[in-house]
Amino acid sequence: MKVVTDLEELRAARKQLAEQVGLVPTMGYLHAGHLSLVAAARRDCASVVATIFVNPTQFSPEEDLTSYPRDLSRDLALLEEEGVDVVWTPTPEIMYPPGYQTWVTVEEISLPLEGARRPGHFRGVTTVVAKLFNAVQPQYAYFGQKDAQQAAVIRRMALDLNFPLEVIVCPTVREADGLAMSSRNTYLNPQERQAATVLFRALRAAQTACNKGERHAKKLRLIMRQTIETEPLAKLQYVSCAGVLTLQEIEGEITGEVLLSMAVFFGKTRLIDNIVIN
Ligand code: PAF
Repeated sequence: MKVVTDLEELRAARKQLAEQVGLVPTMGYLHAGHLSLVAAARRDCASVVATIFVNPTQFSPEEDLTSYPRDLSRDLALLEEEGVDVVWTPTPEIMYPPGYQTWVTVEEISLPLEGARRPGHFRGVTTVVAKLFNAVQPQYAYFGQKDAQQAAVIRRMALDLNFPLEVIVCPTVREADGLAMSSRNTYLNPQERQAATVLFRALRAAQTACNKGERHAKKLRLIMRQTIETEPLAKLQYVSCAGVLTLQEIEGEITGEVLLSMAVFFGKTRLIDNIVIN
């Protein structure tokens, strides 16, 4: 496995790779969710490039950029074990050199849900992912369903900007008790970790109600909200029942595929989760 930092080194390493190339962009501190993306890329592609870059432009000033967990040597060992060919670990100066002033913005679907609570977040994500696509030139790029809106926004960007690649969205990987894997789970103390299972329980409660015939989006949101409220350590930021393509909130009865999603605080730690129901 080749580990490169400079853009020129990356380009040289990319030239040596057998086609097709799969890209797995990450911010490091890898868990089984990331490794499932690598495994999917390994399965589909002749070569796999992973990137590790904690992208400052997708964090707002009050978010956790400086405390974001990092463990490069562990990450590299895991990627090597998974058979990754090249790892690119650019620095902020490489990605955003002095004078940098170019941004990629996807409009409508960046606005609701996470976009409404984290202004500027998706502009940072789409800008860095566009730069990763340009630098690595993959035929396939892998993202997790855990960040459902991110995946939708990136897919839109790839289409709109004619990136010659396919965006593959892989299922959320969960702990045995249902908690979606996330690097931010490491911030939780043992009580919060236990309480955090309420996100998946709330999603499942709404899914069960839907399976039993409940069709009102408002009622599904209420079921999720009420489940979250049973957990004293959980502070709900939002619950949503939205169209899976538009990400617009549904007001009447649901039809077809629907995205149930939420963001919940445990102390200072903000967790998100979602499922798609049909
Ligand atoms: O999902 C992430 O880890 C990040 O948002 C991504 C896609 C690597 C861009 O920084």
